[in-house]
Amino acid sequence: MKLVIGCDQGALELKEHVKEVLKEFSDITVEDVGTYTTDSVDYPDIAEKICEKITSGQADRGIALCGTGIGISIACNKVKGIRAALCHNVFTARMSRQHNDANVLAMGGRDISFGPATEMVQVWVKEEFLGGRHERRVNKIMEIQDK
Ligand code: RB5
Repeated sequence: MKLVIGCDQGALELKEHVKEVLKEFSDITVEDVGTYTTDSVDYPDIAEKICEKITSGQADRGIALCGTGIGISIACNKVKGIRAALCHNVFTARMSRQHNDANVLAMGGRDISFGPATEMVQVWVKEEFLGGRHERRVNKIMEIQDK
């Protein structure tokens, strides 16, 4: 799987940690679209970079990080085809894949500590969409963007 990851200055340390976690998966490649320093940036710009990689097919899924995860998840969800899930624990990370087929995991660098983030990422990259009734619901979500 090809993963794209990005953050604003509020989640720089979490992004570096997540990249370390992802190194344990030999079947996952990671592209980091920034930011790379603690200089202030605007999270919507990072969201666009992440989502462009996914919608163009250059990445299968993404991980989007800002201080709270709120702003960057809202921005990602403005992009057609993106289902970004702001998750706070392993349960929500797992459900976002099983029930929502989330293609972006969002987390807050000022919210989630490294321990929970490790488990969330490990679960999220491996968990599969369950389909069935959930597929009907996800299809309805995607129809809303076309109205
Ligand atoms: C940046 O200070 C902060 O607003 C951002 O990281 C994020 O928390 C926004 O939702």
